[in-house]
Amino acid sequence: MAETQHEIKSVLTENRVFPPPEAFSKQAHIRSMEDYRRLWDEAASNPEKYWGDRAREELYWKEPFQTVLDWKPPHARWFVEGRTNLAYNCLDRHLAKRRDKPAILFEGEPGDRRRITYGELAVEVNRLANGLKSLGVRKGDRVGIYLPMVPEAAVAMLACARIGAVHSVVFGGFSAEALHERMNDAGAKVLLTADGGWRKGSVVPLQKNVEAALPHMKAMEKVVVLRRTGESLSLSDSRMVAWDALVKGQSDTCEPEWVESEHPLFILYTSGSTGKPKGVLHTTGGYAVNTSLTTRWVFDLREDDVYWCTADVGWVTGHSYVVYGPLMNGVTTVLYEGAPTQPGPDRFWEIIARYKATILYTAPTAIRAFMRLGDEHPRKHDMSSLRLLGSVGEPINPEAWMWYRDVIGGGRCPVVDTWWQTETGAIMISPLPGATPTKPGSATFPLPGIHAEILDRQGNPVPRGQGGLLFVTRPWPSMLRTVYGDPDRYVRTYFNELPGMYFTGDGARTDADGYVWLMGRVDDVVNVAGHRLGTAEVESALVAHARVSEAAVVGRPDELKGTALVAFVTLKQGNAPSSELKKELATHVAKEIGAIARPDEIRFAEALPKTRSGKIMRRLLRDVAAGKQSSQDTTTLEDLNVLAALRQNDE
Ligand code: WT7
Repeated sequence: MAETQHEIKSVLTENRVFPPPEAFSKQAHIRSMEDYRRLWDEAASNPEKYWGDRAREELYWKEPFQTVLDWKPPHARWFVEGRTNLAYNCLDRHLAKRRDKPAILFEGEPGDRRRITYGELAVEVNRLANGLKSLGVRKGDRVGIYLPMVPEAAVAMLACARIGAVHSVVFGGFSAEALHERMNDAGAKVLLTADGGWRKGSVVPLQKNVEAALPHMKAMEKVVVLRRTGESLSLSDSRMVAWDALVKGQSDTCEPEWVESEHPLFILYTSGSTGKPKGVLHTTGGYAVNTSLTTRWVFDLREDDVYWCTADVGWVTGHSYVVYGPLMNGVTTVLYEGAPTQPGPDRFWEIIARYKATILYTAPTAIRAFMRLGDEHPRKHDMSSLRLLGSVGEPINPEAWMWYRDVIGGGRCPVVDTWWQTETGAIMISPLPGATPTKPGSATFPLPGIHAEILDRQGNPVPRGQGGLLFVTRPWPSMLRTVYGDPDRYVRTYFNELPGMYFTGDGARTDADGYVWLMGRVDDVVNVAGHRLGTAEVESALVAHARVSEAAVVGRPDELKGTALVAFVTLKQGNAPSSELKKELATHVAKEIGAIARPDEIRFAEALPKTRSGKIMRRLLRDVAAGKQSSQDTTTLEDLNVLAALRQNDE
């Protein structure tokens, strides 16, 4: 936890406290710390009653459950006998009251707009669900989704849920290679995609990537292509069908598939500390209960809210807090396709003013970028509709938190810094905006029912103020159920550090008041501009290049991105380092994984520092990358000259 120490110092001095505004608390779902503590105690003393009550309140169950939790560590089954359907809970359930209420307010990057009511969304979902059935998709089949941030992305997810198919969304920024790797791992038989999407004024060539991936996707039976950017859409492969043609003439109604609570809902790939991304599997009932509940409590939803979460549906935030959570709550949600600064630095603020958004949920990396662009851009727009701000994805530094609160929130909006992960499915540690006094940079307290604890490697609680490892010591409904196709990896990755307890991979500490401060990853996972990447993944992409012999990739603190990627590369004999080669390697990584994985810096080295047993000394490389004098004992170095050479190579 070398990098962590530095951050601990900077936040230890943070002592500002912002109690919730009185007017906000008065009408909030949870109004005081007493209410919070009462719920917490209730949940802790009788978890089955607590979660059983929540499950009955949050969801419509076609068949009730009798067993709240069946826990055979590390395997949990929640609401066991229950049957439900998530598309029904997101749509049909609202139609009596909210048929004409906007479900989605869409804005494309080029400026096209659509307002889709709950009634209209239900029709679109049913048509596509019927279309998928006509392609032979059955309950339990896996369906890939590789779409831009357009309403059809939500339609696609809900159509799968409607018929009990398991969706696996691949972020549109991922490459053809990353796409076929994930589709093959999931065994997807149908893929929903588009000709392209808009990003920074250009077209993201989704269909082209699919074409490149198709020869490697042997199990893929059909590819459904949505027309979005209007590229001339030639269905170049016999497996391709046009979206329009598929849904045309399909019935507006589709009987939901009433699935068991533990029926798989989706697989979402995320980076771990080894090369291959993990297919995190979430199931239906538990995931739905906790995303629905946390959306309402953490964002303190009200009927008239216009809620905007800026995440892409390619990430878990998009699953839980763009699609499922808001729609289960019947709220109006804003969907924006493009880049935050397209065509100008005030696009976000213009959107907030146009739709009178009341809630904004975005990432620290975006906040820091806006901060740098200057206050004049948000100040140009009337953002008085905002009443709550959220942050997610990485630790938010107190400066960015204060700027967010003052400049975007006009000093009147509570800020909720929400900690969670792809694996947790829903928010775990967060202020409740009507109850929790916030401190800039702290995610504050675990939500009721969430046993997040900071322990040492032996499982002892660490004293306040001291850093430790963050565990979740009891099961929760929206926890991942397995790593798809690799049940051993599920156990190894999450339950080996301390048996029966979920290891988050994050370091954390509590302060004197018991507030939780997240300190970043303690494994070989880095968080680059809010995107999670495994250093091993980037390394294996690098060594796949013909000229590369060895590579080690580490994170270095970066003002804007939180962490920047630095790659140390040794070349095969006969290859000379050059700036062209650096560029070529960076492009190679972008092609193998996606632009988000492109190293910020590549350094050529004669050799990599290794221990006597041959392990690359990453901590040392992290220090070198950060320009720090290493405090680490280097006597175990295989060759001290290696380190000296790396330092000399500093540009
Ligand atoms: C990792 C999970 C959860 C949705 C987006 C990321 C980091 C996330 C916070 C926060 C400090 C945070 C952690 C975590 N992280 N939110 N509020 N404060 N760190 O999901 O891609 O699965 O990444 O993001 O390191 O382990 P993910």
